[in-house]
Amino acid sequence: MNINLTKIRKDTPGTEFVCHFNNAGSALPPREVIDAQLKHLELEAAIGGYEAADREIDRIEAVYDSIVKLIAARSRKEIAIVENATVAWDMAFYSIPFQPGDRIITSEAEYGANYVAFLQAAKNKGVVVEVVPSQASGELDIAALASMMDNSVKLIAISHVPTNGGLVNPAAAVGQIARAHGALYLLDACQSIGQMPIDVEEIGCDLLSATGRKYLRGPRGIGFLYVRKDIIQSLEPVIIDHFAAEWTSLNEYTLRPDARRFENWENNYAARLGLGAAVDYALEIGIENIWERIQKLALRLRQRLSERSNIKLTDIGSQQCGIVTFIVDGEDPFELQKNLRAMGINVSVSIPSSTLIDATRRRLPSILRASVHYYNNENEIDRLLRALP
Ligand SMILES: Cc1ncc(COP(=O)(O)O)c(C=O)c1O
Repeated sequence: MNINLTKIRKDTPGTEFVCHFNNAGSALPPREVIDAQLKHLELEAAIGGYEAADREIDRIEAVYDSIVKLIAARSRKEIAIVENATVAWDMAFYSIPFQPGDRIITSEAEYGANYVAFLQAAKNKGVVVEVVPSQASGELDIAALASMMDNSVKLIAISHVPTNGGLVNPAAAVGQIARAHGALYLLDACQSIGQMPIDVEEIGCDLLSATGRKYLRGPRGIGFLYVRKDIIQSLEPVIIDHFAAEWTSLNEYTLRPDARRFENWENNYAARLGLGAAVDYALEIGIENIWERIQKLALRLRQRLSERSNIKLTDIGSQQCGIVTFIVDGEDPFELQKNLRAMGINVSVSIPSSTLIDATRRRLPSILRASVHYYNNENEIDRLLRALP
């Protein structure tokens, strides 16, 4: 493995102050990300916001190229930079021209924000929402998905990595089925981006939503949407402004031809530059290296937790990611989170309504979530283990 952990931790000021295991919430940014934002804020303050954006235009535009490299897209025309993963996902989903009776297929681990949008589309547009059953190991069952397909399936929309519990869904196998049946495929990569390699061609998704602050280690309040070139023209954004569409004559507008039709005019340029710095930082380390180390650290944490008789791991999936979830017998997870935070150890709590289908099926209460990143070290894992009752 090719990771210079000493340098990486030196680049990450937060590692001096906290043991951060809330990387699936919002990871600690490296110095490059902090500086990219601060520098731009200083420039805006010094010369004016519009003038600063003009001066930095090349750097701002280069953020699209960094994202293209990160997800192996074909061109920057396939990328829209928006406020967060939810905006990215919503802009894609609500733009799909559903007809009554169209079917949407999703997985048991689907994220709450996405599922309520499915329910709204069922209520307002008469679409039918169906859930692929999971295999015993936890992934969505590919054979079951294949058996559900016919030409009434307009959309397959799944979470690559759900908000809780280790699982990595078989995104590329889903892509093959979507393509074979001509269904649109929207992948929520919010928890996988920056954690593991993502190649949109290999996965075969048409749309992909992602956020900056989680495993990418970017700023809060920034994310992006990938839209496959061939389908951009078929999607009219549900909300537009005069950036997304040119006001061409008194009664007409013309939508932008690229994915930026899903953006609008005003932007947080400091956050965009921070996102670009985060992507470049991850690419420099190498996503394969990042993924390898995350899996190694998560395995160590899971093994040590599983040795405790008072702790029950609640992770699923045959290949598991950096998100480790568990229950400590007789302990309130919110109290535990508070106590750990007082000791300088950050974890989070996943509540059932984030993934209600999975939580109901597995009868999961609120559970503790310790999400590891490559910059964590073995001492920090030991500290967490010592601090748990
Ligand atoms: C699977 C999944 N999708 C989407 C989101 C929403 O991301 P954002 O908060 O950037 O909108 C989350 C947030 O935790 C998530 O876990």
